[in-house]
Amino acid sequence: MKAICVTPDRELEVRDIPTPIEPAPGHVLIDMDASAINHGDKTFLRMPTAAGNALALGPHGVWGASGAGRVVAVGAGVPLAYTGKQVAVYRSLDRSPESVGLWCERAHVPYTTCLILPDHVRARDYCGSLVNVMTAYAFLEEITSAGHKGVIVTAGNSATGHALASLARRRNIPAILLVRTTAARDALARLGVEHVIVTTEGFNDRLSVLSAELGATAVFDGVGGDLLTSIAPALPMNSTIYFYGFLGGTAPFSIQSVLFMMKNLSMKRFSNFESRTVKEQARLVAALKTLEGVIDDSMFTTRIGKEFHRDQIRLAMAYESADGAKAVLVT
Ligand SMILES: NC(=O)c1ccc[n+]([C@@H]2O[C@H](COP(=O)([O-])OP(=O)(O)OC[C@H]3O[C@@H](n4cnc5c(N)ncnc54)[C@H](OP(=O)(O)O)[C@@H]3O)[C@@H](O)[C@H]2O)c1
Repeated sequence: MKAICVTPDRELEVRDIPTPIEPAPGHVLIDMDASAINHGDKTFLRMPTAAGNALALGPHGVWGASGAGRVVAVGAGVPLAYTGKQVAVYRSLDRSPESVGLWCERAHVPYTTCLILPDHVRARDYCGSLVNVMTAYAFLEEITSAGHKGVIVTAGNSATGHALASLARRRNIPAILLVRTTAARDALARLGVEHVIVTTEGFNDRLSVLSAELGATAVFDGVGGDLLTSIAPALPMNSTIYFYGFLGGTAPFSIQSVLFMMKNLSMKRFSNFESRTVKEQARLVAALKTLEGVIDDSMFTTRIGKEFHRDQIRLAMAYESADGAKAVLVT
């Protein structure tokens, strides 16, 4: 079969590799339909240790973290519910030496990397979703066990921001979404999101009042840099900033030490595959089950910008859209 693989100098190339035939115990074979290119697919290619230890690649160096397709065979020990189902896949949920994929025609992965999609949705619309939905889910688990009662979302109009908003609402956790445009604010309002603030001049006053009122002391920060620098003085006492993404690029984040003292701020990273939800098998299985029940929410779908064939991998990796929609590799 054809696969997009990593070369020793960390470029991508299309190779012929053996098609997996028999699923190993606990594994499924998936005929892949599509794979969205998420930020992580670019970041970890350039910088394998961006989230700590580099994750091992499979035997053929097949690249890609997200995708969707249909299960064509299940190994011993895989719940029967997976048989023949369309699934969304996020490879980093579970690793095994036998894993192959995802950017290939037939993936071979542990079933715990897959979320069963209902028959009435189109798998392709979820080909980049599971990483973002699981990140938001695992984050809410972590902050509630740390005692936080509400959350500020810096990348409010991103896929992770949308997923967080939907999951927080289901748990009655207040969420304040920061967005850059009134168009994004209006679109989120139409989706029923209650607290959206456009980050134009003076927004900090409103953020300060609302975050104190809602007890929003956990910051789900996918932006960093200038935005985080500007909101730090508005955060409530005892806030924790969780860095999980860098949409703001390389701009540094700065804060006065006195503010750090005064507000008793904390800062830490958040990485979905280092979370308890993903690392502990029973929690992961429970999370996948819970998410299966809600996945047809439109706030979880992948915004598809343009579809590419595997031979266009360079173009696909370079693709940028004005509205954050993603490049999708179709099989
Ligand atoms: N740590 C983890 O476990 C984990 C997991 C998943 C993703 N991530 C990271 O999370 C980040 C977000 O990923 P994603 O897939 O959710 O993003 P995404 O869907 O691609 O987000 C794109 C949208 O974010 C908004 N945005 C872009 N730059 C921004 C900025 N500087 N300030 C505010 N908003 C900005 C834009 O909306 P507007 O144009 O409307 O403003 C844009 O349309 C990435 O850095 C990704 O690598 C980390």
